[in-house]
Amino acid sequence: MKKVHIQSFGCQMNDYDVERIVEVMRGRGWEPTEDERAADLIVLNTCAIREKAEHKMASALGRLRPLKQARPDLLLAVGGCVPTLEGEPLLAQLPFVDFTFGPDAIPRLPALVDEATGGRRRFAAVAFTEVEAYDFLDAAPLPGDVRTTALVTIQKGCDNDCAYCVVPTTRGPEVSRPAGEVVAEVERFVAAGAREVTLIGQNVNSYRGLRGGFPELLARVDAVPGLLRVRFTTSHPKDFDERVADCFRDLPRLCEWLHLPVQSGSTRVLASMTRTYSREEYLRKIDYVRTVCPDIAITTDVIVGYPGESDDEFGETLSLLERVQYDGIYSFKYSVRPRTPALSLGDTVPEPRKAERLAALQELQAAIGARRLARFVGRTEEVLVEGESRHGGQACGRTRTNYKVNFALPDGAVLGEWVGRLARLDIVTARAHSLEGRLPAPEAKRRVSLPVQTARGGTPC
Ligand code: 5AD
Ligand code: SF4
Repeated sequence: MKKVHIQSFGCQMNDYDVERIVEVMRGRGWEPTEDERAADLIVLNTCAIREKAEHKMASALGRLRPLKQARPDLLLAVGGCVPTLEGEPLLAQLPFVDFTFGPDAIPRLPALVDEATGGRRRFAAVAFTEVEAYDFLDAAPLPGDVRTTALVTIQKGCDNDCAYCVVPTTRGPEVSRPAGEVVAEVERFVAAGAREVTLIGQNVNSYRGLRGGFPELLARVDAVPGLLRVRFTTSHPKDFDERVADCFRDLPRLCEWLHLPVQSGSTRVLASMTRTYSREEYLRKIDYVRTVCPDIAITTDVIVGYPGESDDEFGETLSLLERVQYDGIYSFKYSVRPRTPALSLGDTVPEPRKAERLAALQELQAAIGARRLARFVGRTEEVLVEGESRHGGQACGRTRTNYKVNFALPDGAVLGEWVGRLARLDIVTARAHSLEGRLPAPEAKRRVSLPVQTARGGTPC
């Protein structure tokens, strides 16, 4: 049996693409391997969102080069967003790579492999599939592969034009996946052992796969029997409306966690980014969702050092963090990207200033995050058990608000029997980014009798 080894860099969409690559290759009799030396095909699944991600790809390629030189029959392919962004010239820059392919070419990967075998032809398969012809690959999860939580794509591409972002260029126009396909896929994941799904897309709130839009899709997924939890990501604030916010109050399985990228606290910078909302509009949405769901955990993305960002404008981002009290942030220094509208604005904030701003932002958030985490101590929380704790010896899972909780199982308990089940835990300690829980006495004594099909014994978290 031929073997494929995949290395992935990047976002959840890339993780999702890796799963589809494994499935299409399996369909042709290939099996995945963790060992690059045992592989007949190595795929680097790349991310182009920031320059740093591209550097990671370059160093991985440098490392693989001797392997390819020693074994010319080994196929080396570069997939993901970088090939679409860079096009044909990338192939010329990487003479030892057999072919490149974009995300839309994944369904054709076995045919591309045939075409490239034996060095017959080098090519870049980076064209987009026409919107009308776009066909979502159905996940075909096997019980042994499925984790407690599964990603289900509801949309591909993006129709927004945030000035800094490569995604519209690398993933093409937005296409919504038909609702029936989404629900059927969730059902397949549940049948294979998953208990939580995260619906993913670049801007799930603009989903148009059925009348009633995203809130209606959420309601249908929420009703799938056997599913314990639903999440979604990512939301664009301009499309995150009260109907979606109300779902946090109305849908029992929808978890109280919202990722709502703000990018900047300055209305002028937001306009320059073409985000199409103001600071005030964003804050109104935050306030509304907190009125319908007071304990919701909210996370965000922030870019510092966007072209033209002044000290005062950066100060507005800091004050926005104070005002919102996020549970977590992902923060990035602005990275100039090819083929984006912001390219014409230059890169006006010097690197040391960007670094200072990033450090100030992260320091502020560390203090806010610690307070947000501390609020759980003394509470009892519902935790979905996912697997073994990162350092071993304990079980771990997540709260509905998406905080990681580690806890000790009762003596003699088998972790595999706990994975995929909900436990009620007393939260005893808050650590830097996670919580420590304890089973209340009666729960610890109760015999566990809920086997779940997770052959991997759960996910380390
Ligand atoms: N520079 C820095 N950060 C970026 N992001 C997207 N493009 C860039 C860029 N050019 C960040 C945004 C987005 C997240 C996925 O990556 O914050 O929400
Ligand atoms: Fe990029 Fe903006 Fe689309 Fe998000 S919404 S993927 S930041 S263009």
